[in-house]
This record gives sequence, C-alpha cells and structure tokens, in this order.
Amino acid sequence: MNEMNEPTGGNEMQDNAATHPVIAIDGGSATGKTSTAAGVAAQIGFAYVDSGSIYRAVALALSRKGITESDDPRIPDELESLRIRVVPEGTRFEVWVDDVLIGDEIRTPEVSQASSRIAVRGDVREVVRELLRGAAHRGPMVVEGRDIGTVVFPDADLKLFLTADVRVRAHRRWLDLVRLGREIPESEVERDLTERDARDSGRQHSPLRQAEDAVLFDTSAGSLEEQVARIVRMWQEHEAARDGEQ
Ligand code: DC
Repeated sequence: MNEMNEPTGGNEMQDNAATHPVIAIDGGSATGKTSTAAGVAAQIGFAYVDSGSIYRAVALALSRKGITESDDPRIPDELESLRIRVVPEGTRFEVWVDDVLIGDEIRTPEVSQASSRIAVRGDVREVVRELLRGAAHRGPMVVEGRDIGTVVFPDADLKLFLTADVRVRAHRRWLDLVRLGREIPESEVERDLTERDARDSGRQHSPLRQAEDAVLFDTSAGSLEEQVARIVRMWQEHEAARDGEQ
C-alpha cells in the first residue's frame, strides 16, 4: 500500500491537476537537478521533492527481498504490500518504506542501476506518480525527475530540462560518491551514467525527454547560484504575468 502521511481523502490522489503551483525540473543523471531544484525551492519557499529517491527506495526494498530484475513475477505483490510514504519534513519530503526512513543507503551505484531497471515498469511508475500527485495537494513544490513535466505534472507552472556534458556529469557524480566513502574510477561512473540514461530514455513508459514547453538549461558551465537565480527570475516573471492577467 502506498500513501501520504495524512491522506487527503476523496479522489484527490488520482487527480491530474495539482492544486498548488509546481515547478518541474527534469533531466538525465547528474545534470545538476538536485542542487538546482533544492536551491530554487529554498529561495521561493516551495517544498523540494526528489522523485528519483522514491524509485531508489522501491529498488532498495525490492533488492532486499532478492528482487533485482524488472521482470521478476513477484514485483506486483511486493508493490502491493510495500508501505511507501512520502512525508513532508520542513521544506523537504522524506521517503519511508515499511516504517523505515530512507537515507543515504539509496545513493550507491548498485541502487542507481536497480532503480533505473525497475523504473521501466508501468506499475512501479504508477505508484510513484500517485505519491507525487498526492504530495502536490499539500502545497507548492519543486519536483525533480525524468517525466515530471511530460507525464506526472503536464500542467506544471514552469518546466526546466537540464543537460550537461557527460564528462562534467561523471565528475560530479564521482565527487558525490567520494563524499559517501566510495572509491570508484571515474570512467566506471561515466559508463554507469550513460547506461542509465539510455535505459531511462529508451523505455516504453514515460521515457526521459524534454517536454515541448520546457526551457532547456545546459549546466556544464556557469555557477549553481547563477542557474538558481535565473530560474527564480523566470518564476517571478511567470507570477507577475499571471497576476497581470487576473
Ligand atoms: O534522479 P535519480 O538519478 O536519483 O533517479 C534514479 C532512477 O530513477 C533513474 O535512473 C530513473 C528513475 N527515475 C525515473 O524513472 N523517473 C523519475 N521521475 C525519477 C527517477
């Protein structure tokens, strides 16, 4: 069963339209989505949601039950019995699975690959999609992922699509892993990223792609601060235009 901390009731969780503003930030692995989304959210007072962490938490829970392949016939039953909660905590959302708070254990290269593998499944995607749409009823949020602007919130108020040179991305991810105490060659990290992006972009269900109305950002160069400031300005202009219409 999958639920929010406090269910919002009725059919709201199935409702496509978010009742609060949503900023969607999509892009491939290690394109800078997390720092950008968290930075923008902090500046404009929105909650920040990392949808990849929900896929990672599901992948970890399944792998702890010995399920590592996406075609394992036990997955539907496991999905039914897993208790996944996306719980607001300050300006972030925590992910809980079966009453255990998920932390950095989902940040390993093994869980990265496992999450990309299980994310090809329509039933897994549906679970995550409904959790995210449920969260949108709580308040405004910045959501990062792969299909946020295309499928989860096609009516998002502002959509960004991040890209970056693969070497820059691999170096960033390598630094993250070093910080977590993992020694791994950068070339291996680059291979992992490329493989994951190919799978995430090539899958049948909600593949990674830029929404037609998303603004493309190349994050290879330039500072995070500038990038966040640009998006905050875009949001303020969007707000001003909307207020002008009313
Ligand atoms: O953003 P991330 O690297 O933590 O995501 C891990 C995996 O989860 C990614 O390789 C594919 C999947 N994912 C997805 O399919 N759709 C999303 N909206 C977010 C993540």
